[in-house]
Formats: sequence, structure tokens, C-alpha cells
Amino acid sequence: MGSQTKVVVCGGGNAAHVLVPAIKEAGGTWVAVLATFGDESQRIANGVAQGGIIAAYRDHHYRGVPDLVTSSPSEAIPSADVVIVSVPAFAHAQVVESIAPYLKCGAFLGAMPSRSGFEFYATNKHLRDRDITLFGFQTLPWACRVADYGRLVNVLGRKNIVSMGAFPTSKTAGVAQVLASITGLRIRPANSMLSISLGNVGQIIHPGIMYGFFHGREDLDYDSDSVPLFYQSVNRETSMILDLMSREILAVARLIEQKHGVNLGDVIGLKQWLLDSYGDQIRDKTDIQTCFATNSAYEGIKAPVIGEGNKFRPDFKSRYLTEDVPYGLVVTRGVAAICGIETPVIDRVIDTCSHWMGVQYLIGGKPCGRDVSGTRHPVVYGIRDIDRLIATSV
Ligand code: NAI
Repeated sequence: MGSQTKVVVCGGGNAAHVLVPAIKEAGGTWVAVLATFGDESQRIANGVAQGGIIAAYRDHHYRGVPDLVTSSPSEAIPSADVVIVSVPAFAHAQVVESIAPYLKCGAFLGAMPSRSGFEFYATNKHLRDRDITLFGFQTLPWACRVADYGRLVNVLGRKNIVSMGAFPTSKTAGVAQVLASITGLRIRPANSMLSISLGNVGQIIHPGIMYGFFHGREDLDYDSDSVPLFYQSVNRETSMILDLMSREILAVARLIEQKHGVNLGDVIGLKQWLLDSYGDQIRDKTDIQTCFATNSAYEGIKAPVIGEGNKFRPDFKSRYLTEDVPYGLVVTRGVAAICGIETPVIDRVIDTCSHWMGVQYLIGGKPCGRDVSGTRHPVVYGIRDIDRLIATSV
């Protein structure tokens, strides 16, 4: 792939809005937006017609005009060399289903971010026989919110570096190089997609903070001034929960390394991830709590609440739960079960968050709940042992 590389960004949310100007700023690669959801493609086209999408980061503004905006996979996908799916994980299946028939042989298809278990899903989808290389980003490189649809997105924070895994793993370095040149991002090639799945920190941060803030305080009302800052209000108690969750995940990774010889050295602890991702945007690097409280990239972001006027309650339908539990923690819990490792803190968080969401994924840690098929727990894809897990994601 070279200067003629064609990229399709799938999605019409915050992330898609940043990707287009980022790609144009990085080198002007041909880029299409494929927005299949509702009337988004028309709305983006209307906005773009007024001069392109502007990403605003501090005092730096960059603008990108996509070469095509469409809602039709058959129009955008057949010529695409690289397809970046940038929607919440609960929409991955719908988007990948719609584009899979049109992917050309040898294309790169991936998710930014992939959250956990994207590879279980995607390798099951008969993409291998067309030599499709999968990739997954461990996180979204930006904290961002659309301010004017199709026209302006505010970038609140930017990570220094992002990890990316690929499948088959032999393609990782090449895919990382192509994606870095297309997007201008600093990309750290991960050892495997399993590294990305276990190293998905959204699964720790989002459900963990929700649990820390609201467990036992579900019925508290907030007025508009007292809604806590989501990241910067992390207290000692919550940071300890996050730390324990992170340690449980590290224990899974280390066991797979030791017993099965898979290199998962790039699955790192939460504090290290915060330092690597945000560097000098963190004022006090002492511990997890201070890394959240003094991180300028997190400034002003409030906990998700619903309500009106002056009465708000926690929003238990927020994607901090609906995405990061079924496409994060539940996946990791499944990998831990395959390894025979207990994860008591993660279990507690999953159970509480499931109760809040009105779903049942696990019973006593086992994937027997009525809603488990709506997750990416390994058993959903017939992955029940370590050999199958490794064959699917390493
Ligand atoms: P968003 O909430 O803006 O994305 C919503 C978009 O997803 C919709 O506009 C639509 O285009 C698409 N979508 C939703 N349901 C769909 C469906 N059923 N079928 C097809 N498309 C559908 O999400 P955002 O903010 O762009 O985030 C994308 C990913 O990045 C998520 O995984 C999120 O957790 C992650 N992320 C976002 C951050 C941010 O600051 N925006 C920060 C860190 C991670």
C-alpha cells in the first residue's frame, strides 16, 4: 500500500469525526466515510458541504474533506485497502456484517478501538479465506465530542501512543506502519490481538469507576453542580478497586505466558498505561488516584447521569456499562475461566453492573445467564480451551 491507499472510516460518531481530519492532516490519503446508521450519512454530507470537518484541539485546528460520504457498503468497500470501524463495540457486528461481503482480497479490516474479543467475532466470519488481515486498537487515541455534526469536533485530549494488534500476528508490523502513515498516530505494535483484548483498559476504568461511585448509592440524587467529574473525582476507594481489577487481569496474562509460552508482556498495569498514554498531561504521577485526578486530558468530563432540571441519577444505560461490560470484562472473565483463574473483584463489578443494566450474563462466574449471547464471552464463539483461544487470537 502506498500513496494510492484507499481508506474507509465506518461510523458517524465522535471518533469518525476526528479520524477524517486526522487522516487528511497526516498526508491526505483518499478517505471515505461509510455511515450506515439512520440518516447520518446525509447529515455528514450536509455538514461537509459547508467546508469539511474541523477537529479542534487546543489552539490547533485541522480540517478534512472526505472524498466520499455514503451509507452504502457496496459503494465504499470494494475498492478499500483499509477499513477502520470506529463505533462502539455493540455496533461492531452490525457494521462488519454489512461490509464483509464487499471486502476485497487482502484488505485490512479493524476496529478503533476494538475493546475485547473483536478477533473472536471477526475470525469467525469467514474472512480468513479472503486473506483479510484483522487489526484492533487498544484504545481511541482521542477524547473527543462532536460539537456541530458533520462540521466540528472538539478534541479534549490526545494520547501519546496507542497499541495495535493484528491477526495473523505476522502482519502486525506491516499493518502498524501503514496505519501510522495514514493517520499520523504513534502506534505501538502489540504482540497479538489477545494482548489487545486483555489490555483493554476501558473494561477496568469505566465499569470500575461506575462501581466505585455508585455501588450502594444508586438512589442518590444529584443537582447539576454535584454530578461528579468522572475521572478527576476518582477517590482512594475507587482507585483501589481499579488497581485490584488491573491486577486480576495481569494474573491472567502472566499465567498464559508462563504456562503456554504466549508473549503477553505488553499487557500492562493500569498505572503504567496511564503514564504511557498521557505522560506530561498528568501533573502528579504518584499513584492511580493522582493520575486520574490531575490528568488534563480528563478535565471536565462528568459521570454519566440522566434527568433534568436539577435532579439527576446515574445513567446505567451508559456505554461505560453497555459497551465495557459485555465487550470487555465479560470477555476477560471468560479468558480467566479458560485459564482456571478466579477474578473475585471483576466478578463483583460484573454482577453489580449487570444488575444495574437489567441483564444477566454470568451466574456464579459461569456464562449461563440468559443474556450471555449478547456478549463476546469466548463460549459464544465455541472457544472453551486455551488451544482454541490461542488459535483465534494469537
Ligand atoms: P459515539 O457514541 O459517538 O458513536 C456512536 C456512533 O456509532 C453512531 O453515531 C453511529 O455512527 C454508530 N452506531 C451506533 N450504533 C450503531 C449500529 N447499531 N449500527 C451502525 N452504527 C452504529 O462513539 P464514539 O465516541 O465515536 O466512540 C467510538 C469508540 O471509541 C467507542 O468504543 C468508545 O467507547 C471509544 N472511545 C471514545 C472516546 C471518546 O472520547 N469519544 C474515548 C475513548 C474511547
